[in-house]
Amino acid sequence: MASVSALRAALLGSFSVLVTVLLGFGLPSLLNLGARALGLPETSVTECIVALYLGFVLYVATPRIPRGSVKVEGKAVFITGCDTGFGHALAKHLHKLGFTVFAGCLFKDKGAEGAKELEELCSDRLKVVQLDVCSDEQVDQAVKYVKENLGDTETSLWAVVNNAGVSTFGEIEFTSMDTYRRVSEVNLWGTVRVTKAFLPLIRRAKGRVVNVASMSGRMGCPSQSAYSVSKYGVEAFSDCLRYEMKAWGVKVSVIEPGNFLAATSIMTRDSVAVTAAKLWREAPTQVQEDYGKARFEIYMAATRSHCNTGQKDAASVLDDITDAVVSKRPYTRYHPMEPHSWLRVQLMTHLPGAMSDFLYF
Ligand SMILES: NC(=O)c1ccc[n+]([C@@H]2O[C@H](COP(=O)([O-])OP(=O)(O)OC[C@H]3O[C@@H](n4cnc5c(N)ncnc54)[C@H](OP(=O)(O)O)[C@@H]3O)[C@@H](O)[C@H]2O)c1
Repeated sequence: MASVSALRAALLGSFSVLVTVLLGFGLPSLLNLGARALGLPETSVTECIVALYLGFVLYVATPRIPRGSVKVEGKAVFITGCDTGFGHALAKHLHKLGFTVFAGCLFKDKGAEGAKELEELCSDRLKVVQLDVCSDEQVDQAVKYVKENLGDTETSLWAVVNNAGVSTFGEIEFTSMDTYRRVSEVNLWGTVRVTKAFLPLIRRAKGRVVNVASMSGRMGCPSQSAYSVSKYGVEAFSDCLRYEMKAWGVKVSVIEPGNFLAATSIMTRDSVAVTAAKLWREAPTQVQEDYGKARFEIYMAATRSHCNTGQKDAASVLDDITDAVVSKRPYTRYHPMEPHSWLRVQLMTHLPGAMSDFLYF
């Protein structure tokens, strides 16, 4: 064991020295070489570094470069979780752009408001489908329905948007195994189930799979373990799918929204109150005693006030999903989020763990 650690330390040491030497000697000459190749006068290294940094800032700050759009005519899209929130707005938005939209709604059969509102648009190009992403049977029925409705029309299933999701909160010791399973059943296994079922149709159209994950799928947060676990899974699944589908011409994109709690109904003050009561009721006695009711209440009050935070306008999420569906060259990952969240994700995913922990926890 000791020799393994010594070897590892030696390798790390040599690697650091190599990188430092390369950066120290190689980077300046490389930058000057680039300047010469561009026909620029011999510039100082400092100027080159400033130019490089400026390029990076511009890359981050400039609006999206136009990359061309696919034709909308003859294309259908299947979206899950259209009762409320992003899914509901997206169904209307893509329909307005001219797509045939199959809108999966969890409570269509119960005549829920969201499904009814979509049906009232009374369009041939907007079809509301009963869909619980946790049910093999309902997913199979949905595939059958899509096939029957596309039938011998010229329209093909171009994209599936896995948007359906649930959220929860609670520290790990308060979170039951049932909760971990329930959240992943919708967010992760629902995404896998729906994707697998529609993939043959999407493959034939050389279309798109768009998975709505979250910034919590790139970095963990205290009290969000069940949600994060499920969204990290969506990220992993999407990466593997993207590699496999490259050969088939299918593009896979992940949307990683930041905080839009104020814009959707994924977490409300009422749902927080119900979850809080359940968390306390189901916690083991020892956990209740050690954490204490007073601390728990303070934590829950903070979570309740968190419900109205974040962006109120979901337009950036809709724009990014639309880009992933419509653009000729969609991005692998989209980050509709506030600048401070974007910076946090970058630091948490790129810095060594010890440094990002020091900054944020
Ligand atoms: N809002 C945010 O801040 C945020 C941030 C990052 C990522 N996201 C992700 O964005 C996606 C959409 O969420 P949202 O914010 O728009 O919340 P939302 O308004 O609650 O929408 C989620 C939709 O999924 C539906 N759903 C839940 N369980 C389902 C199931 N088993 N089968 C089919 N549909 C089901 C819900 O139906 P009911 O309403 O009828 O239960 C609801 O219509 C989710 O994947 C979420 O994780 C949201």
